[in-house]
Amino acid sequence: MNLILGIETSCDETAASVVQDGRVILSNVVATQIDLHAQYGGVYPELASREHVIKIIPVIEEALQSAGVAFRDLAAIAVTHGPGLAGSLLVGVNAAKALAFANDLPLIGINHLEGHIYASWLDDRNLVFENPFPLIALLVSGGHSELVLMRDHGAYQQLGCTLHDAAGEAFDKAARLLGLTYPGGPAIQKAADAGNSDAFKLPRAWLKGTYDFSFSGLKTAVLHLVQSFKDAPLPVADIAASFQVAVADVLVEKTVRAADEYGAKQIILAGGVSANAVLRKTMLERAEIPVIIPPIKLCMDNGAMIAAAAARRFARGERSGWDLDVVPALKLQNSESRIQ
Ligand code: KG4
Ligand code: ZN
Repeated sequence: MNLILGIETSCDETAASVVQDGRVILSNVVATQIDLHAQYGGVYPELASREHVIKIIPVIEEALQSAGVAFRDLAAIAVTHGPGLAGSLLVGVNAAKALAFANDLPLIGINHLEGHIYASWLDDRNLVFENPFPLIALLVSGGHSELVLMRDHGAYQQLGCTLHDAAGEAFDKAARLLGLTYPGGPAIQKAADAGNSDAFKLPRAWLKGTYDFSFSGLKTAVLHLVQSFKDAPLPVADIAASFQVAVADVLVEKTVRAADEYGAKQIILAGGVSANAVLRKTMLERAEIPVIIPPIKLCMDNGAMIAAAAARRFARGERSGWDLDVVPALKLQNSESRIQ
């Protein structure tokens, strides 16, 4: 049995969790900063890092306490070192380094996106873990929209990515146009519940022959639609519902096509946007192979997913050095690790 403490501070959640053997969550503490940033309509980077400084130790202490473990029980400390906001990442990485050094524990730097993927296997109900390959992962968060082919644990090939805004960013920007609060994803989903998704035919950018995504045309279409109402009451629910299906349609269609082309055994839906109910439902309806979607709580940023990703690397003997740095634009394919 090995216990790994996972620490996550890449954006606006200060999170820590203790995970056993990469699959069983013993504790999962998340201190969200949503209220702090809502007044700015998005994450205010300097405020985010300062809030991490305040929260990091209490959050780690609570994660250990509620798991009923002490530092001496741990096998390693894992931490997100990219991608994300530099100032936010620095808080987590420095805390992890100091604690690992002081307690004579190995340190493992983890790619945040790899964490989102490994959240899929944290839930015991989820099927095949040992050999689910090849698989297709749709990674959709506030900063990323990627379609990834995985032929083995830790082996990532990017099939496509977003040419402009990430899916989550598109939700956040559309929400702002509709006068909804930050973060936009949950706000659009809530507003859409009362709307008709056939009310407006919004554009889909298929970018034929590629697995890339672009939501800029869709965003512009929402802008023009909003402007067209001038002083008339804005049908927020109908626009939100029509927007949501337009995003889900393209994401699901491309994922299913890639799964077919590469003979995938399963599809993984990961990242904050995978919390979206319409995206989850559409993917489950259209895919002909098993679809693994983490429970909502694990779709959002958390420390458990970082510990889960670290467990695989730890078992392979991978460790980070004390010179582990933050890499704000870290690519999934270049995840830091060394065999020692
Ligand atoms: O993965 P995440 O928590 O943070 C990043 O790594 O970026 O993703 C945050 C993004 C935000 O853009 C948020 O609007 C979106 O995920 N999101 C959603 C939903 N819940 C969160 N988008 C659509 N529907 C949701 N229910
Ligand atoms: Zn994330």
